[in-house]
Amino acid sequence: MALLEVTAVTKVYGLLRALDGVDLKVEAGTFHGLIGPNGSGKSTLLKSIAGAHFATTGTVRFDGTDITNAPPYQRSRLGLSLKFQITAVLGELSVYDNVLLALQSTENRFALLASRSRARLHDEVMHALERFKLADRADDLAAALSHGEQQWLEIAMALAPRPKLLLLDEPTGGMSPEERRITGELLAPIKSECALIIVEHDLDFIKNICDRLTVLDQGRVLGDGSVADIERDARVQEIYTSRV
Ligand SMILES: Nc1ncnc2c1ncn2[C@@H]1O[C@H](COP(=O)(O)OP(=O)(O)OP(=O)(O)O)[C@@H](O)[C@H]1O
Ligand SMILES: [Mg+2]
Repeated sequence: MALLEVTAVTKVYGLLRALDGVDLKVEAGTFHGLIGPNGSGKSTLLKSIAGAHFATTGTVRFDGTDITNAPPYQRSRLGLSLKFQITAVLGELSVYDNVLLALQSTENRFALLASRSRARLHDEVMHALERFKLADRADDLAAALSHGEQQWLEIAMALAPRPKLLLLDEPTGGMSPEERRITGELLAPIKSECALIIVEHDLDFIKNICDRLTVLDQGRVLGDGSVADIERDARVQEIYTSRV
């Protein structure tokens, strides 16, 4: 059984079918890329998986549980974590406190009162920051970070509760080529503990880090397979050479 199974998911906004019968399977321990032209439904699909909104029809199963209509907090307790397309760090808080907040949102409130839990939380915050090369910026305000560093902070926040599946919506948007390269290096080691669905427009970046790709076009799956399969697919080449 796959870690995530999306079956025949449709999302309708008024008259628009943003998703139209989408199937997607993601296995544990894999990095899965989601590509497609602007408006093809990539963010809508991630939101249907994370619970930011509900699919109109179809089912979403995660780790053996039907989560189609589960609220976001239940999905995150089961091990799902989403970083939205728009940056959401709290600029007036320190880098450290941003990660601490992300962790506390998943902790039991009574456990937080115990000093042992607080020491463990501190270790986990520092571990998350070290992983994303932000440990020496822990006391700085998040607003003082560069755009690329803010994106890394958000990924660190999403990973801090140790999800089983991380959903990243265009994490390298607005980054320099060098920051993109570093992002790939920072993400690679998480594969041993967490599967990933990543939306990206930069095909070279996504081909380098992903095991499989799904291509969306106008709310439908146009192609699904290994990176090599997708590169050979004439329909995918057509939308990428003529429309993206
Ligand atoms: N809340 C909403 N209300 C109405 N229409 C929406 C809403 N969110 C998205 N849409 C529409 O649904 C379609 C899919 O949007 P979505 O944001 O999922 O595309 P995308 O593939 O993520 O695009 P991009 O690459 O530009 O981020 C678009 O036509 C968009 O205008
Ligand atoms: Mg989008």
